[in-house]
Amino acid sequence: MKLTIDGRGVEVPPGATVLDAVNRLEIGLPQLCKDPDRAPLGACRTCLVHVEGQRGLPASCHLPARDGMVVQTTHPDAVRTRRVVLDLTRSMLSPGDGRDGFGELGEAASRHVLAAPSHAAKHRFPVDASKSFFVLDREACILCGRCTTACDDVQLIGAISMNGRGHEMRVGVAGDGLMSSSVCTSCGQCVATCPTGALRPKEAPAPIARTVETTCPYCGVGCGIALKVRDDGRLAVMADDAPRNGSSLGTLCVKGRFGTGFIHASDRITTPMIKRDGAWREASWDEALDAAANGLARNRGHFGAFASAKATNEDGYMIQKLARVVMDTNNVDHCTRLCHSPTVEAMLTSMGSGATSNSYQDYEDAGCLMVVGADASANHPVIAIRLRKAVKRGAHLIVVNPKRIELCDQADLWIQERPGTDVALFNAMARVMLDEGVADLDFIRSRTEGFDAWAATLEPYTLDYAEHVTGVPRDTIAQAARWYAKPPFSGSCLIWGMGVTQHTNGTANAHALLNFALASGQMGFEGSGISPLRGQNNVQGCGDAGAIPTNLPGYADYSATSLSRFERAWGVRPPARPGLVVTEMTEGCLDGTIRAMYVVGENPMLAEPDLHHVDKALRQLDCLVVQDLFMHETAELAHVFLPASTSPVPRRSSTRWRVSGRPSAGSRTRGSSRAASSGRARRRITRARGISTARTSRRGGPASCRSARGRRRPSCLTPLIPSSSTPGGSSTTGTAGR
Ligand code: SF4
Ligand code: SF4
Ligand code: FES
Repeated sequence: MKLTIDGRGVEVPPGATVLDAVNRLEIGLPQLCKDPDRAPLGACRTCLVHVEGQRGLPASCHLPARDGMVVQTTHPDAVRTRRVVLDLTRSMLSPGDGRDGFGELGEAASRHVLAAPSHAAKHRFPVDASKSFFVLDREACILCGRCTTACDDVQLIGAISMNGRGHEMRVGVAGDGLMSSSVCTSCGQCVATCPTGALRPKEAPAPIARTVETTCPYCGVGCGIALKVRDDGRLAVMADDAPRNGSSLGTLCVKGRFGTGFIHASDRITTPMIKRDGAWREASWDEALDAAANGLARNRGHFGAFASAKATNEDGYMIQKLARVVMDTNNVDHCTRLCHSPTVEAMLTSMGSGATSNSYQDYEDAGCLMVVGADASANHPVIAIRLRKAVKRGAHLIVVNPKRIELCDQADLWIQERPGTDVALFNAMARVMLDEGVADLDFIRSRTEGFDAWAATLEPYTLDYAEHVTGVPRDTIAQAARWYAKPPFSGSCLIWGMGVTQHTNGTANAHALLNFALASGQMGFEGSGISPLRGQNNVQGCGDAGAIPTNLPGYADYSATSLSRFERAWGVRPPARPGLVVTEMTEGCLDGTIRAMYVVGENPMLAEPDLHHVDKALRQLDCLVVQDLFMHETAELAHVFLPASTSPVPRRSSTRWRVSGRPSAGSRTRGSSRAASSGRARRRITRARGISTARTSRRGGPASCRSARGRRRPSCLTPLIPSSSTPGGSSTTGTAGR
């Protein structure tokens, strides 16, 4: 459609509004109640325009664009009326501390030559500063409704609303309590959209030099954040959301919005350190790298690396390459071992891939969501938004968790099984599906193998037996199975977390879940799928890049063919034997198999269950190199500390490693660190970005299972693996596989 606005032609797609056309021409028309990423509210009447042949002055945000329309934003009637509206709006506000110019309203008022309002505000509301990161200052509020819409319709939290009437109308929480007393999660969605600064960060405003769009450094959701770099080089405390990011779609939680302050933390270490006689001293990069390189080189072959699942794929690739090519070992691992390795083990066996099979959009499209051992509201809050959206659309939400979590408030069914009885629960559900004929036999026939053997193992799992073992009423178990197998619309998503994997029988739990999903055929089409919720932001990528001892990059095995392929690429043949997993490396420190370690962006002295054991193990090392942002518990035990860079960083790096003194047989030593000039030394420095950002983005699982959107079926054959023949599951441990 072609329109003329202020004498200039502009083209917009069907469905666009006149305001869209105005904005396309970058005309400075006020639009105080319109969030650029949301539907118009039509509340402020500041976007009025004149349309040729049309009576009155319509609000352009609500006016559909039509071909041939002639619009004027500068028509005298429109300007005059807008000025009156802006004057009245400005009159709602009182000047005061922290109310610097009233944001978009102040700019619009000055463009309409409105120096001061004609009236005085009739109310006086106290400032609510009870939240940690932002204030609610109702003396700067124009009641546009953007914040309540953000809280209600975007985050689906409903912490704030418009309270009262007339001059007493105000934004607030139920009962006019403090924000801190409400269900507000401090996600900042309302703060980001407020046009006047009534909701504003506590941090004093500063000029912003540029914005850097990146990925949130926290959980596995992978939300887009736009970090604002102030002109003094520091990051503003509050980040913007990044609506183009397909994971978050413009939403954030408190971590992504306000959680990057650690970058400028006063206790962050930015100078390399070497420990001498039990005391740390600062060192130059050359000294520290020499100390690290010498310590590692003299223990070649007796080395272990702990990579970071918060670092980029390139960082993960480099550390595994250091281990394999330089240190002659496959002892490289990361935190997946401690969280979802049972999942990956089971999924690789059953599905051929350890990756989630669906996208977050599928959660929203699903007719039934079963969330097992995962507290999404606390750990993956942006996923929880998707779940709330699905519930709003009528999806059944089934929470399986011994602990009461926030999602239980929205759930149709809360299955509170006894801890450790998940296998019995899911086997009983699978049996219900088979007994009641709601299993997908076509799917089973065409896409699985081993069905009969698996079905036979379900024999003992009657509802009575499951009720006795799990403590869950038999009707509840049966209802959950029916809803999952036959959702009211679309498909079903099975989502699980570490509540089921961090058990001694975690792999059996994961197999029980997968078998249940396979028997129902709930995967491979929109609104369906299976998803382990990952803890760190790049667990998947770190494993893909090869920072695991059981496989080479891309999950290549240690066959002669694979080793030759990597030898051609690297110039060095990787060792043929699988390396030690993290927990085995700890044992290796104790028995002397491991004499040197390089730990990047990890803190086993905090994360391991038996800290005395790890402490004793790490103290045996001849050389422990830690690279991180802070002097944490593990770093305290190190011999060399290398400061890490942090996000935002470029998504790709050209990190190079050189370790001096490497034996030459069969290898290519790329120079000596002794010989390195300081410029070269700087290039050698690994940039293991302890919290950097690139994340393996997977809308779906294996390529063969994901074609175009629409009803899809996996092309992979998926064996149904008996999960267990005992109620508590088998004794498969999480450390047995990846
Ligand atoms: S607090 Fe801000 S976003 Fe909310 S109604 Fe007031 S001006 Fe609008
Ligand atoms: S910070 Fe988030 S949860 Fe709190 S009021 Fe604003 S939008 Fe609602
Ligand atoms: S932006 Fe159009 S009415 Fe507020």
